[in-house]
Amino acid sequence: MPFETLLTEARGNVGLITLNRPREFNALNSVLIRELARAVDVFEDDPEIGVLVLTGGLKAFAAGADIKEMAEKSFMDCYLEDFITVGWERVAKCRKPVIAAVAGYALGGGCEVAMMCDFIIAADNARFGLPEITVGTIPGAGGTQRLVRAVGKSLAMDMCLTGRQIDAEEALRAGLVSRVVPVADLIEETLAVARAIADRSRPMAMLAKESVNRAFEVSLSEGIRFERRLFHATFATEDQKEGMSAFVEKRTPAWRNR
Ligand code: CAA
Repeated sequence: MPFETLLTEARGNVGLITLNRPREFNALNSVLIRELARAVDVFEDDPEIGVLVLTGGLKAFAAGADIKEMAEKSFMDCYLEDFITVGWERVAKCRKPVIAAVAGYALGGGCEVAMMCDFIIAADNARFGLPEITVGTIPGAGGTQRLVRAVGKSLAMDMCLTGRQIDAEEALRAGLVSRVVPVADLIEETLAVARAIADRSRPMAMLAKESVNRAFEVSLSEGIRFERRLFHATFATEDQKEGMSAFVEKRTPAWRNR
């Protein structure tokens, strides 16, 4: 997969995508977003890949949408091209689990893309923020919606209205990230987590992801009904039979992904 703005690599059963515009702090321009969507398509279609990891550089995961590229856009340009929709939503729509490995700045669109992933593992130097207000706009890639669901109203408002950045420890306390690791270990630790997921039953991971995400869309009773139906459906799979038999027989399950 030759890309201008990304590096991609299959590490066993994990697809690693690295944003690669280091001189621009990985600012998300239209080429990068188009390529990112294509890279997700490729790994999503690859039966050898169970989990995707999305990362950036050590100084910046991504410092937001490319301000130089968008500065002169008119309202009509944004509306007609459906700016920040085409391509951008691809990560959020991936059915396989996607983990963001964030070092350095994850600002604006960078923070928003990280939040489109299923969970975020942060390096101890990570900084998260939605500073759009400081450049005369507001978050446009789902930041006002996903951040408030992740950290609650008070901190989300604080970050959106002041543009304040939070560090990895505050992000961990607030529930924006699931773990914090030393920056030097970020990729290997995230790949190990990804591998642990990819080595289990793939359809179970997809079903669990779908069920957790449903919580953001529906009432508690509807969400539980949805979960119960998926749970019942797992009993029609070979992997449920294998997983439970292996437990009873005290052996390691051999997942069939069926
Ligand atoms: N767009 C375009 N270029 C960017 C950029 C961005 N979002 N962020 C950084 N860069 C570029 C800088 O222009 C600079 O390029 P030049 O050397 O050609 O001048 C290079 O990256 C390095 O940046 P700095 O010199 O500013 O480095 P720094 O260490 O002093 O600061 C920073 C780093 C704090 C990340 C700072 O660059 C910054 O504040 N960037 C902008 C952050 C921002 O406002 N993001 C929100 C964008 S709007 C958005 O994302 C909309 C949305 O919701 C989708």
